Amino acid sequence: MLKVAVFGVGHLGKFHLNNWKEIPEVKLVGFYDPDLQTAAAVEEKYQIKSFKDIDGLLDQCDAVDIIAPTNFHYELCEKAVRKGKHVFVEKPLANNMEEARELMKLVKESNIKLQVGHVERFNPAFLALGSIPLHPMFIEVHRLAEFNPRGTEVSVILDLMIHDIDIILHIVKSEVRNIYASGVAVMTDTPDIANVRIEFNNGCVANLTSSRISMKKMRKMRIFQKDAYIGVDFLTKKTEIISLNNLQDPNGFSFEIETRNGKKSISVINPEAPEVNAIKMELEKFTESILENKPTLVSEVDGYRAMDVAHQILQKIRYNSINS
Ligand SMILES: NC(=O)c1ccc[n+]([C@@H]2O[C@H](COP(=O)([O-])OP(=O)(O)OC[C@H]3O[C@@H](n4cnc5c(N)ncnc54)[C@H](O)[C@@H]3O)[C@@H](O)[C@H]2O)c1
Repeated sequence: MLKVAVFGVGHLGKFHLNNWKEIPEVKLVGFYDPDLQTAAAVEEKYQIKSFKDIDGLLDQCDAVDIIAPTNFHYELCEKAVRKGKHVFVEKPLANNMEEARELMKLVKESNIKLQVGHVERFNPAFLALGSIPLHPMFIEVHRLAEFNPRGTEVSVILDLMIHDIDIILHIVKSEVRNIYASGVAVMTDTPDIANVRIEFNNGCVANLTSSRISMKKMRKMRIFQKDAYIGVDFLTKKTEIISLNNLQDPNGFSFEIETRNGKKSISVINPEAPEVNAIKMELEKFTESILENKPTLVSEVDGYRAMDVAHQILQKIRYNSINS
């Protein structure tokens, strides 16, 4: 049985509490939230003990789940790692690169597992890709959200685009060569809308647009590679593959087109997305990593790499704003 403590029971923290309760290998020992009103309401509604001090709660658990605002991630992670506790921490890993580097070092020197909450890795539409070989050469992403003050303490890059950055770094097996970025602060003090082009050493180009001031929502990634187009809709949880390979799917179909090199057969399939709750699955996988002593699926290195690219983007935006 894994004893878990939760730090931060705001909007997302409450979803985590519900999901932890459904994992049989886990015992929730309590939570800490400095907002006394929130703490009292959550203790009453969820029947989970509210702790008034961080160390007292850390001493009771094997693993922590940190869903506090980003500027507290480092402090809480550091305390937990120093006490030898496994850590699940929401994205972004930390507030700045110095903290992220220090956390990587601390985890490396310790014997604990750390997982970062890049939850889109567990989105059914992404999981539906299963064993389809991915070797992207061009990626187009749109992540558009309606305005919500929650999360605006950081830019749209660290709030929303970082989800796509993580997925892209996970599927493009190459180093970043160049980044071009522009962004505008419309409603807040940091960029609310941004367009970014990431070029990789292997020639792949990713073009990302993120906005948190849109009238309609969209979370769509389009991946183009030599033999296929792959559409992943993170919002509707639907996946589409149009391929030159003969893909077998009972719900799919194929047709032929004439090309300069003769006829080519094209398969169109919509692979079935597994019916999973992404948050529950990321917490289950974290638990499994600890209990079975396996690497976490989204490690501190993944969290660091996503932050590194996000911060390079922010620097480019600042540079472009100053020089325009
Ligand atoms: N993975 C995702 O898709 C996703 C989505 C939303 C938020 N997040 C991340 O989750 C985190 C929390 O976001 P939220 O929307 O739930 O915010 P929120 O403001 O609704 O909740 C944060 C809670 O943390 C509490 N808190 C403040 N300081 C604390 C501390 N030192 N220790 C413990 N708790 C503390 C606050 O009182 C509040 O109840 C952020 O890092 C955010 O980036 C991730």
